[in-house]
Amino acid sequence: MSIKELDLISFRNHKHLQLAFGKGINVIWGENGSGKTAVLEAIHTFSIGRSFRTSRFRDLLKDGEEFFRVTGVFVHDNQEQIIQVNQTKDGRRRILVNGMPISGLKELIGKNPVVLLSPEEQDITKGNPSVRRAFFDRLFSVVSQPFLQVLSDYTRTLKQRNAALCLVRDNRSNIKSVKAWEDILVDNGTKVWSQREHLFGQFTDHLRRTVIDYAEDGVEVTCIHEKTQHSNPDQFRKALAANLQQDIHLGRTTVGPHRDNYKLVFQGKDLRLFGSQGEHKLTLVLLKLAEFRLIHKETGILPILLLDDLFAKLDYQRSENVLSLIEKDVQTVVTTTDLVPIEQHRIDLKQNGNKSIYLERPCRV
Ligand SMILES: Nc1ncnc2c1ncn2[C@@H]1O[C@H](COP(=O)(O)OP(=O)(O)OP(=O)(O)O)[C@@H](O)[C@H]1O
Ligand SMILES: [Mg+2]
Repeated sequence: MSIKELDLISFRNHKHLQLAFGKGINVIWGENGSGKTAVLEAIHTFSIGRSFRTSRFRDLLKDGEEFFRVTGVFVHDNQEQIIQVNQTKDGRRRILVNGMPISGLKELIGKNPVVLLSPEEQDITKGNPSVRRAFFDRLFSVVSQPFLQVLSDYTRTLKQRNAALCLVRDNRSNIKSVKAWEDILVDNGTKVWSQREHLFGQFTDHLRRTVIDYAEDGVEVTCIHEKTQHSNPDQFRKALAANLQQDIHLGRTTVGPHRDNYKLVFQGKDLRLFGSQGEHKLTLVLLKLAEFRLIHKETGILPILLLDDLFAKLDYQRSENVLSLIEKDVQTVVTTTDLVPIEQHRIDLKQNGNKSIYLERPCRV
């Protein structure tokens, strides 16, 4: 799969920007603040319906403007697809696929997969469990529609149970209203766990192989899925009962798949507690390459690879390793402030399919 054209209107710092991409390596270069990451952010929006820097759509709207429009022309199996996301300042959103409106962002998930490697993503290895959970939930949603469905069912039920817990805490309802959600929560939660287990198993297979193919000799990186408790319906039910008073007190559900953690282990030790900067960076690259392979295997689509500030973040050998893994036929968009690393890595911008795109920083008034 590839993106052929991108048209941005009032998106971040871009008033109107039109870009055409090659099918190979596209290098977007320009000064700090010229809007390189914003271009990747726009491409990312088509993939899972949201940016990787913000969850608020209005942050994407250029200051002082009334609406933004992002249009992308994608090519799948020689067929073009035009996707357009329109968003107004007051929150009205319209998404069109080939001119036809779709019901919401959820419909975009999995259709135009991208794999992003960016400094912002480092939180996946460094941040708290919710960041890793979000990473895996997003990835599993991209490769599996059934997972996306059970996860959104579970999340909806969880919100309803939490709302009921708050009402009981405030003496505005009785415990029956909390128990009313139990069966469905247990049912959806158990489904989330079982599908996660299956998909996580596939992911770790790809991670193991990626580590063998990529990492320097002797490097061992693994990931462990830590659940809050045993993931069968009876145990879940018991845990909900055991925690009921605490849940009422807190106004939220303290057990369930929404509390799982994924622990990253580097050379036998918890990366979050012991990892060096370089080890975090290396682990992120490995996770991302495993993500790429999982998406390719499960959807049959070669995702677009978005590499933000690759050279600033990885040393020469490691960025060389990442670039050497870019398989033929993978469209890649790399951002960089200058072309020196591109020459160092012997990327031939004149080669068919490759392209260099210069972005000028707009004048500040
Ligand atoms: N909603 C917005 N409206 C107008 N400008 C914005 C908005 N959001 C961000 N910007 C500005 O857009 C510019 C481009 O940001 P971006 O992060 O894309 O630049 P970049 O080229 O990736 O820079 P760097 O090389 O430092 O990573 C920044 O100056 C930022 O302040
Ligand atoms: Mg940037």
